[in-house]
Amino acid sequence: MVYTIGARQFQQQILPEGLPATTVWGYGSAGRPETFHYPGYTIEARYGEPVTVRWANQLVDGARRYLPHLVAVDPTLHWANPPGGVRGRDSRPDFTSTPGPYTGPVPLVTHLHGGRTSQESDGYPEAWYLPNATDIPQGYATTGSFYDRYKDEFEARWQIPWTPGTAVFRYDNRQRATTLWYHDHALGLTGPNVYAGLAGFYLLRGGPADLPPGTLPGPAPGAGDGGGPYFEIPLVIQDRTFRTDGGLAYPAGRAEFDGFTGPYIPDSDIPPIWTPESFGTAMVSNGRTWPALAAQPRRYRLRILNGCGTRTLILKITSDPLAPRPAAPALPFWQIGNEGGFLPAPHETGRLLLAPAERADVIADFTGVPAGTALYLINEGPDAPFQGGTPGTDFPAADPATTGQVMKFEIAELSAPDTSTPPDRLELPPAEGLVPAIRSRRLSLNEEPSAVLPGVSPARLALGGIDAQGRPVPRMWGDPVTETPRYGDTEVWEFHNFTVDAHPIHLHAVHFEVVGRQPFGGTPTGPEPGEAGFKDTVIAYPDMTTTVKATFDVKGRFVWHCHMLGHEDNEMMRPYTIR
Ligand code: C2O
Ligand code: CU
Repeated sequence: MVYTIGARQFQQQILPEGLPATTVWGYGSAGRPETFHYPGYTIEARYGEPVTVRWANQLVDGARRYLPHLVAVDPTLHWANPPGGVRGRDSRPDFTSTPGPYTGPVPLVTHLHGGRTSQESDGYPEAWYLPNATDIPQGYATTGSFYDRYKDEFEARWQIPWTPGTAVFRYDNRQRATTLWYHDHALGLTGPNVYAGLAGFYLLRGGPADLPPGTLPGPAPGAGDGGGPYFEIPLVIQDRTFRTDGGLAYPAGRAEFDGFTGPYIPDSDIPPIWTPESFGTAMVSNGRTWPALAAQPRRYRLRILNGCGTRTLILKITSDPLAPRPAAPALPFWQIGNEGGFLPAPHETGRLLLAPAERADVIADFTGVPAGTALYLINEGPDAPFQGGTPGTDFPAADPATTGQVMKFEIAELSAPDTSTPPDRLELPPAEGLVPAIRSRRLSLNEEPSAVLPGVSPARLALGGIDAQGRPVPRMWGDPVTETPRYGDTEVWEFHNFTVDAHPIHLHAVHFEVVGRQPFGGTPTGPEPGEAGFKDTVIAYPDMTTTVKATFDVKGRFVWHCHMLGHEDNEMMRPYTIR
């Protein structure tokens, strides 16, 4: 069985009824237009049952002419670069003769985030492909340099014929049951592609690391496709800015970021359009601004994903959305899982801290809350890059009137008794710890000021190593691969953060244990309670070393990167190889 999942452009009511619809991109099933949605539909996968997907770039109009991007793409980054014509390598278009954002056909490639996936199916950033449009200009590359690997693999091994504008990826589903998500990952334009809407959930259930059905809140008995009510809700929270015509607004240049308006210097290190960080003015949950959920007085399982490009969220449930920050929680969250599946034990907390790409599997228990009560999911993260610390003390919390609110729970009547296990009595499936590491790598997180224009920073970000004197050695995406764990080895990776901001660092192919953190010259601390078990994304705070440990047990070429998408798109991503 091969599922075909297309990525298309369409209109969706994201803003409240009565306001204009928004043109977005989303995933859906080719023959069923009604399935296209932002975010994409949730893929339900079972442990041990492989899923094969033909991902199709359908960003074309009715006459099969390509559709340009919805937002500004900087063609001077090291990026997928179809006009370069050399399969994703370095040649860049001549920005001075045609200044402005890229307006050609859009490269896409889907990555299953958190998937333990073979390299051919992982969605390597240089495995992109253009839509199969009738008007691709002469000389454009239609696929990235990594693309042929999986194309040949699939034709030979799985007997699945290749068709232009698509990629066939296979997901083995042999890993701990958990909350995964899929999103676009094309080199240098992941930020714009995800901002336009290309993301969705992928829930892996069953196997030794799941709980028996019925233990946790799930769909009501008899609830089918599109039915309900659902007591398990995947919730992707994203910030967006809307124009008055309903369209998505996105920085068209870095003037909005740091006031730098040029001039663009050819062959300099200053990207004219790229913006390192951007903060939307509206909160969107599952594709709606500030939605309300008619909830029953019972337990809910919320699988929360921070799907923002830059913003770190600090979530609470309160009874007054406008309460002065920091607000007192009205109800706790019981966190039961993170990126790598269930925690060793449920953990009760008043607030959830989630950097981009982090997930929290939580129980919110509305049992006994009187019908007619309104509760609110609020955000106390900053409207600015996160650097650690506490809202109200170390930084102003997000604006309580806008980005400080996420969604509303309107408590109604109970329709059927809640038979799920109370969170304090849950016994979560155990995880086997990792063996001792045989190697440790000292890695650096770097922000690079412009070399040609003093005072303009960053010109890009970088990951790299550390020299014998403890100084960072930043490296670029195109530099030779330096992280090459041997297949089956367990290694410790230390992320030494030399920048002023916290960065969510993500490794493909593996899940890791968070060993702990140590401020430069300070005393080490262990993982936070929500970081127990296994994760695939970890917050590396500034002026600190954050240490993780993983067993590298999938052979091939993968990437590790910062999951702030503006950073990832401009060099804060490196290839690595499991030999
Ligand atoms: Cu969420 Cu490299 O990705
Ligand atoms: Cu970053």
